[in-house]
Amino acid sequence: MKRNILLNPGPATTTDTVKQALMVPDICPREEEFGELTQSVLKKIVEVVNGESTHSTVIFAGSGTAGVEAALCSVVPENGKILILDNGAYGKRAETIIQAYGISHRTIRIEWGDFPDISQIETVIKEEPKLTHFFFVHHETTTGMLNPLAEILELCEKYELDSIVDAMSSYAGLPIDLQRQPIDYLISSSNKCIQGMAGVSFVIANKERLKATSNVQPRNLYLNLWGNHSYIEQTGQFQFTPPVQIVYALDQALDEFFKETQSGRTARYVRSYETLLEGIEQTGLEMLLPESQHSKLLTAIVEPKSAEYNFKEMHDHFYENDVTIYPGKGAKKDTFRIANIGAIDYRDMKVFNELMLQYFQEKKII
Ligand SMILES: Cc1ncc(COP(=O)(O)O)c(C=O)c1O
Repeated sequence: MKRNILLNPGPATTTDTVKQALMVPDICPREEEFGELTQSVLKKIVEVVNGESTHSTVIFAGSGTAGVEAALCSVVPENGKILILDNGAYGKRAETIIQAYGISHRTIRIEWGDFPDISQIETVIKEEPKLTHFFFVHHETTTGMLNPLAEILELCEKYELDSIVDAMSSYAGLPIDLQRQPIDYLISSSNKCIQGMAGVSFVIANKERLKATSNVQPRNLYLNLWGNHSYIEQTGQFQFTPPVQIVYALDQALDEFFKETQSGRTARYVRSYETLLEGIEQTGLEMLLPESQHSKLLTAIVEPKSAEYNFKEMHDHFYENDVTIYPGKGAKKDTFRIANIGAIDYRDMKVFNELMLQYFQEKKII
């Protein structure tokens, strides 16, 4: 099969074996056999972040936003209040979801590309004694910024706030250990660093916190966390029709993750990122963030000011060569973004670097 190098931040490039796992005999998802597969996938998902003893996986058919919405609409009680950190499109999206449900909230808004100031966050928490929950994004894919997970979790512990962490584009890419980083609700999806196909998202929820949400009046049916969890606990099956083939592919992707190991995967991604930095240096382009804030999973590159530069044209130059690049998304400077997640490695990044240099030289931009 033709191999495309996807440098967009997911759906990421998958292995041929994950693609082949989609081809299974037709099966009714209400069969015991599929229930067993589902149970095994739920267990593997939580094992990735060392949460088996403390957390349960609740799984949904839908893209990552389904998981984010499920957590946000299900866990904040009527008299609760949530703090949202908005330093990128995905923090902002969480606020949009919370507003749609009319849930009481306060937002800390930071320019997209600025690093959150922990003391400022603490001041806001002190001003808001009614806060019960804190939502933030681990890897803000808008800018490639790795938000300060440990420091924010410390604040959550200190002020007894339940943490809801969008780890969409960091789960399985960077090590997360729920025994050391006690996130109450961690959200991700099947198609980013876990390297499966798009179509499933999940919330890895602290068992005790999840049980406590059984007292929260459901705000909808399909995405209710407790409802979906109870159903799957009782029956071993998805509550609603699952994307059957995507679940088989996810099972394969999880097996490939455990074979590679977390440290192996992170090391492969970091090597690709370092190769990318060499290419950026060669072209003299500027990066949006200082290196100390980089996730090493995605890099936002500031667009050159030259009149010769045109993102669409540059995209097409790459696309014709089987490489997909990604535009920017509202950061404080105009950028294009290069992710180094998925079943790719530093050699693919070298291909990218050569094509980038070629484009900029041909256009006489550098
Ligand atoms: C951090 C983060 N949160 C949420 C999402 C939304 O996921 P989806 O587009 O799968 O709904 C994304 C997608 O890129 C993301 O990077």
